[in-house]
Amino acid sequence: PPAPPCAFVIFGASGDLTRRLLIPALYNLAASGLLSDGFRIIGVARGEMSAEDFKAGLEKGLQEFATQKVDAATAKWLLNCVSYIVGDVDDPATYQKLKAELEKLEASGHTQGNRLFYCATPPQAFAPIALRLGEAGLSDEGEDNTPWRRVIIEKPFGTSLESAKELNRKLLSVLDEDQIFRIDHYLGKETVQNILVLRFANGLFEPIWNRNHIDHVQITVAETVDVGTRGKFYDATGALRDMVPNHLFQLLSLVAMEPPARFDANSVRSEKAEALDSIRIPSTEEALFQSVRAQYRGGKIGDKEITAYRKSPDVNPGSTTETYAALKLEIDNWRWAGVPFYLRTGKALSKRRTEIAIKFKQAPVSMFRHMKLDEFGENLMVIEIQPEEGIKWLFNAKVPGPKVEIASVGMTFEYKDYFEAAPSTGYETLIYDCMMGDAILYQRADGVEAGWRAVEPFLTAWKEAGAEGIATYEAGSEGPAESEELLLTDSRRWRSITDPNGSR
Ligand code: BG6
Repeated sequence: PPAPPCAFVIFGASGDLTRRLLIPALYNLAASGLLSDGFRIIGVARGEMSAEDFKAGLEKGLQEFATQKVDAATAKWLLNCVSYIVGDVDDPATYQKLKAELEKLEASGHTQGNRLFYCATPPQAFAPIALRLGEAGLSDEGEDNTPWRRVIIEKPFGTSLESAKELNRKLLSVLDEDQIFRIDHYLGKETVQNILVLRFANGLFEPIWNRNHIDHVQITVAETVDVGTRGKFYDATGALRDMVPNHLFQLLSLVAMEPPARFDANSVRSEKAEALDSIRIPSTEEALFQSVRAQYRGGKIGDKEITAYRKSPDVNPGSTTETYAALKLEIDNWRWAGVPFYLRTGKALSKRRTEIAIKFKQAPVSMFRHMKLDEFGENLMVIEIQPEEGIKWLFNAKVPGPKVEIASVGMTFEYKDYFEAAPSTGYETLIYDCMMGDAILYQRADGVEAGWRAVEPFLTAWKEAGAEGIATYEAGSEGPAESEELLLTDSRRWRSITDPNGSR
């Protein structure tokens, strides 16, 4: 059904996120009939311009970034919903203008008083926006949450445990937890959402989804993109903060969580937070031993020349910020004790590939006496998140012939063989769910904090070590040799990023 009418207020409306993702996503929702007639958009930004110029900019963005052919009537309908307010998010006067605009729309029979405030701003603005909304009374809900008032907070949610807690404290001083929607765009991916269905809509996997049968788990988010023009943000952030407590931990918690009592936001998020909370907190020394950080040198990806990280625009030439991070984590609970979770992510690598590989234990003994156990192939399940979307199994089979010879074979499910993907930016479900009041794909305060708590020892250890111990890797490679060492120490190996189903 279409989402209930609302005012969709975008702070930071002249930014990239609005043009690239939000408007194309709203367009897709409109094209699927999921926005109702009373839906309205209010853009708020600092730039002095007319509503007409603002709309013209959005239209240009839509033509450029739409994920399907733009139908003129739908685009016109969407752009007709738009108004624009000039103002600084720190200035109380902005909220008075916003209030007048919201009340005008409400009086003319639109939006039913429902308001969705989207913080598409730099992170420093998240708390001030929420506080000012509270001050101006714009975020107070009616009785029984009717009309509703909700705030979407973009990433990054804090830069440390302390700053995340501080941000949560500020938000919760003016909003209830169920009004706060902390976005992690990984949860907008179909292949990520499918992990819960795979595990809990099947009887086949859950009985073996534990330390009795699983040897270890590898989570890889490999990117080919380099730092590009994001030097200022990235050099202050690094691969660990940028990717691990959010995106990689979403994947980890969906794989590691216990079955929730029901498929609703609080049950699911409680179990996810619990899984993150069970990650063992290492000492500083252990953290160094269980992690690798590295920076890319110059190199080539395909035909593209990649400039060394330290020579990139807005990056300190002596920077010790990592562009690659690998961690070994232990989850101290009954299901996972003794099953390491290896995580790695990096920029300027050989291939774009996000996957979760679940390595099962070998057969306990070789009945085929002429073959040693370590000559057998692996028993592996690979959940492919992107760009390939599917699930692969690797196991052993008999090579036809009179002699018993054993070879590794694979079985593959690919989404595209079964389903037609709806054109998507990855934000449609997230936005729609927020309008419907379903927070299942959003992060709750305790989950965010548990994530930061688990990475904090690594951040501290790396900070203390400074330039010492930062490895390098060639752009276009599979990452630093030190990362291979991390697993070799445990007599294990990473799957290849470039050729995952090849020789290994
Ligand atoms: C963002 C990070 O959150 O996620 C980027 O800030 C990263 O550095 C991006 O490139 C990856 O997203 P995706 O959907 O391309 O895997």
